Amino acid sequence: MELTVWPERLDGRVTVPGDKSLTHRGILMAALAEGPMELRGWLDAADTRASLRLAQAVGVRVEAVRPGFLQLVRQGALHEPNGPIDCGNSGTTMRLGAGLVTGIEGLSLLTGDTSLSRRPMARVAEPLRQLGATVLTRRSGTAPVVVWGGSTKGGRAELEVASAQVKSACLLAGIRAEGPVTVREPRPTRDHTERMIRAMGGEITVDGGAVTVFPGPLEAISFAVPGDPSSAAFWAAMAALRPGRQIVLENVLLNPRRTGFFRLLAKAGADVTMIEQGDIPEPWGQIVVTGGPLKAFQLGADDIPAMVDEVPLAALIATQAEGTSEISGADELRVKESDRIQVTYTILRALGARIEERSDGWSIDGISPLRGGPVDARGDHRMAMLTAVASTVAEGSIDLKGEESVAISYPDFFKEFLTLKGE
Ligand code: S3P
Repeated sequence: MELTVWPERLDGRVTVPGDKSLTHRGILMAALAEGPMELRGWLDAADTRASLRLAQAVGVRVEAVRPGFLQLVRQGALHEPNGPIDCGNSGTTMRLGAGLVTGIEGLSLLTGDTSLSRRPMARVAEPLRQLGATVLTRRSGTAPVVVWGGSTKGGRAELEVASAQVKSACLLAGIRAEGPVTVREPRPTRDHTERMIRAMGGEITVDGGAVTVFPGPLEAISFAVPGDPSSAAFWAAMAALRPGRQIVLENVLLNPRRTGFFRLLAKAGADVTMIEQGDIPEPWGQIVVTGGPLKAFQLGADDIPAMVDEVPLAALIATQAEGTSEISGADELRVKESDRIQVTYTILRALGARIEERSDGWSIDGISPLRGGPVDARGDHRMAMLTAVASTVAEGSIDLKGEESVAISYPDFFKEFLTLKGE
């Protein structure tokens, strides 16, 4: 699609779709809950539909599914799926799903698309095995993932990578294990699974970097899913990139383990206010971002987990910030839906940025004017949306390949993008 030059000023108000991480968890945890689980404002997108397929395959019935409302009820005991479960492009479905099915007697086989089949699954298989589960991957440590479930003992799992997906897989396995499960993560990652288990009446304790869950039944809950901060980040970046632009983002999830990118925008010179308006099921509220002159910044390994999916946007911000920005400790980006360190480098370089690729990040010199040209998002939804944001400060038009990938997390993104531009 052709992304053309944008107006100087912009005053917009956007309500982003429901949080992807919370929607995945709500759907998958319906399988562990007694009674009807209700998600208002759920994210209906390709990724969360993959979790819905998995839940249905093991015995969850969809009672109601419509825009903004999803009601799920487990039918009796969970059962072995009838065939392979296609997790599509969704790493969250495959990893959390692997943990969930360790508690189901019999064989579960999880498959995925070409991108997901390249991503590392040994990182989830190994800690689940430490807990006594039988989990196999290909020799390369990739999908399909095969689980022979029903025999998870429990115990301790030490994680080598800071990954909320792997931590969550262990915690979900713990709910149906024979004894408690303790997971230690090297750096704090998003804690939605912990919070949801607690809200559902489960027993969970946190001690420094270790989380312990005790096996037991969970009660279903009904909750409103706040907007996804990782989707809100695209609009926030658009405002931050040009002095005078303002965006008001309504009803965004404000869990501090997700809002690192908004803190970075403030540090770089944008005017950012986050106003908490409620805290059920998690803190949520309004974010207002107004563009201002930007200055260079440094990001290291400790900064990454709270903004992991937004780090490519930080690189784009750096192209318009005065001075040299260094982003390091972000090696995890190489194993996302695409190699986001390399794809971000390729895109920004093609648009005229002064950027160098490192093994775990980039070094970026600003301010460099961006130009138009052809860009390939390589099938990665977040790379397509990053390109759209870049086009709002580029001098010429950008010919984007792969815009349909936004169906993964934000199906109406381009519709809203054009509305905001006044088309
Ligand atoms: C997610 C955790 C992160 C993130 C992904 C969603 C989750 O992945 O990138 O989009 O819902 O737990 P990792 O656990 O691999 O860091």
